[in-house]
Amino acid sequence: MDKIAAVVLAAGKGTRMVSDKVKVLHTVCGKPLLHYVIRSLQAVGVESIYAVVGYQSDEVEDAFKGESVFWVNHGDQRGTAHALSVTESMLNDWDGLLLVLCGDTPLLTPELLRKFIAKHKENKDTVATVLTTVLDDPNAYGRIIRDENGNVTAIVENAEADKSQKEIKEINSGAYVFNPDEVFRALKRVKPNKKNGEYYLTDVIKILASEGKQVAGYIAPAPEECLGVNTRDDLFNANKIMSGRIMNELMRKGVTIVYPANTYIETDVSIGRDTVIYPFTVINSGVVIGKNCEVGPFSHLRSGTVLADYAEVGNFTETKKTHLGRHSKAKHLSYLGDAIIGDDVNIGAGTITANYDGKKKHQTVIEDGASTGSGTILVAPVKMGKNAETGAGAVVPKGKNVPDNTTVVGIPAVPLKKGKGTKDKRR
Ligand code: UD1
Ligand code: CA
Repeated sequence: MDKIAAVVLAAGKGTRMVSDKVKVLHTVCGKPLLHYVIRSLQAVGVESIYAVVGYQSDEVEDAFKGESVFWVNHGDQRGTAHALSVTESMLNDWDGLLLVLCGDTPLLTPELLRKFIAKHKENKDTVATVLTTVLDDPNAYGRIIRDENGNVTAIVENAEADKSQKEIKEINSGAYVFNPDEVFRALKRVKPNKKNGEYYLTDVIKILASEGKQVAGYIAPAPEECLGVNTRDDLFNANKIMSGRIMNELMRKGVTIVYPANTYIETDVSIGRDTVIYPFTVINSGVVIGKNCEVGPFSHLRSGTVLADYAEVGNFTETKKTHLGRHSKAKHLSYLGDAIIGDDVNIGAGTITANYDGKKKHQTVIEDGASTGSGTILVAPVKMGKNAETGAGAVVPKGKNVPDNTTVVGIPAVPLKKGKGTKDKRR
């Protein structure tokens, strides 16, 4: 029973989010909640991943195009037990273990999942293991009931818990390892909840225990990993924890983040060592930053941005799908979108690449050694050649490429006449 198939329950609307969007597509550090669950499962090395989807299932499947996930439809969502039962026809012959996770628990790490699975395998009599943790404020979660031997005998939802059960601080994370034949058999015995008609997966635990089967609990040492996102407040907490993890990892790799509490860096950002990130900087997913760069304060690097080593981006500068070469600088008040910028370029304060003509995005190319005067507007598609310059306030119209070693000024920008400020910039 070493092989593992995983089921992710992700069909619920997420009513407590008060949103038009299905819960698992809400993002934490730039990626949907479900992204993290899938990534952790891939890192654990499960054989296959089945995601149970229902509410806005087309949108969910669309967001994960190309991932190797089997999508299972859970048309009318009648609770977590009902959600798992729709995978039965695909998994009842499965001769490995079944790992069931909720799509709204993005902070579970592969390391924790591995230990949790190992706990299940410890005792061959165990038919189910619940991932639990201990919380000071357990109120949003189901409570774990154990017998005198430490076996789990039931999970009681908060709404159903009596006074003494409410005092229990050990909670259900919503992650389980099951022996498939046992769980699919027990699922058929689950009765709808009296109050809301939902079929609770948690009832399976009580059913198995009452049949004399052994159910174990594995307590996650770091409670934050078990955070379930039900509300916007939970989403905020998940963002805070995830972004802390991202920045700690970057700092371990030699990046200085001057003040992490007011810096926001999303998932899948790569930053080289000895780069310094100053406060109030936002760096979106997919950005690549080289070594010895300076970013911020108050910079926004959007996806598709690549900064080569020693590049500098400063105050109130936004970049998108832009490559900034080695030792190039854009220190103040600029928008650089869809731009390919070479080495040793100086982008003057307030330079704008006007990349959008109302219908399409166009590219700006600025070659090595060029510089733009303050307040330059480059209307794309346009190119500045090597060591070209623009004067302050120049507007370079689309297609009016500036030749190498040439200075242009004015609106529309035209080359300066010889003897009127042009200089030989050959290096
Ligand atoms: C569930 C557990 C609770 C546990 C908590 C951990 C039950 C009854 N309760 O409560 O004990 O402490 O998770 O976070 O299981 N879903 C479906 N189909 C449905 C309903 C839900 O696929 O019909 C999915 C949701 O999309 C979600 C997951 O199942 O990803 C959990 O559902 P949710 O409503 O968030 O359960 P909780 O109330 O948090
Ligand atoms: Ca939940």
